[in-house]
Amino acid sequence: MQTAGKLMKVFLTRRIPQEGMKILSTGGVCEVSLWDSDEPVPRAELLKGVQGAHGLLCLLSDKIDAEVLDAAGPNLKVISTLSVGYDHLALDEIKKRGIRVGYTPDVLTDATAELTVALLLATARRLPEGVEEVKNGGWSSWKPLWLCGYGLSGSTVGVIGLGRIGMAIARRLMPFGVKRLLYSGRTAKAHAAEVNGEFVPLDTLVSESDFIVVSCSLTPETQGLCDKAFFSKMKNTAVFVNSSRGAVVNQEDLYEALTSGQIAAAGLDVTTPEPLPTNHPLLTLKNCVVLPHIGSATYSTRGIMAALSANNLLGGLQGTDMPSELTF
Ligand code: NDP
Ligand code: DGY
Repeated sequence: MQTAGKLMKVFLTRRIPQEGMKILSTGGVCEVSLWDSDEPVPRAELLKGVQGAHGLLCLLSDKIDAEVLDAAGPNLKVISTLSVGYDHLALDEIKKRGIRVGYTPDVLTDATAELTVALLLATARRLPEGVEEVKNGGWSSWKPLWLCGYGLSGSTVGVIGLGRIGMAIARRLMPFGVKRLLYSGRTAKAHAAEVNGEFVPLDTLVSESDFIVVSCSLTPETQGLCDKAFFSKMKNTAVFVNSSRGAVVNQEDLYEALTSGQIAAAGLDVTTPEPLPTNHPLLTLKNCVVLPHIGSATYSTRGIMAALSANNLLGGLQGTDMPSELTF
């Protein structure tokens, strides 16, 4: 599609998998410029690159606020994010300007749920500690209580946010012999019946769960939800896992809960900030397993996300349906 004989301009804030690049470069709709790197675009380059663009394809690490939208100017019709989370987008400013938004729900649900289960098991069964002990000579013999952890069989699991990913996590955990599946959120979910999910107040979930999995979106209401008061209600033997967004957790309070024995262990795929500085106190703890935000990181999922975000961008540019448009 052409505007006054010219291809529409799009700016990509990063290199994306070739599945997405192919769609953009063969569509005959747009001319692509990108921050040609695997590292985040510096703010000044983002503000420069977006000037006059009709479309912007961004990542969750790019803060898209009024300054970026003003720098883009009135041509901007569509923002397509290579993520299902959209807390990095200033939706009120975007709405004011009548810009459409595309995102990538569903296609990363299985990969993220799988990683969350892996993180839960690694944390509860102390896998990183065990691997380290094998390497450093700490493995002297089979010992009755050495490296014991917590198992899922007969346990109560609490899922905060039984949405697409939360539900996929619950489905994967039930076959481990989970006895009760509690969940909390704003509304009860019909799909919870499949896992015998009990919709309970957050306090009940926190105090009764042996494993707590956070899979809600980051919103003003969920920011800092897991704080001192939250951890103080957890069982001393409980394991906490977060694969949503780092800002849902107050990390100082989590550190305190982990070092005081208030809770048993934590597994985090997301932190504040990202990357977490290598001298961060949480990284000194054996009972805290931190991953570098790899929930959706399988080759095929990232390829499908790239294709979906490219098709969202094209739909927005052409004023047609977007395969996954955010309604807000
Ligand atoms: P969904 O929209 O399907 O689910 C979000 C859930 O959050 C809903 O069930 C919603 O429950 C819940 N929620 C919203 N507000 C609250 C609240 N105040 N208290 C408790 N729960 C709340 O999104 P997805 O499952 O697809 O994705 C969830 C999040 O996972 C994303 O927003 C993203 O941040 C994160 N994510 C992380 C990845 C990683 O790599 N670690 C990969 C992909 C996603 P209700 O409807 O009742 O409000
Ligand atoms: C998302 O999509 O929101 C994740 O955090 C990365 O896949």
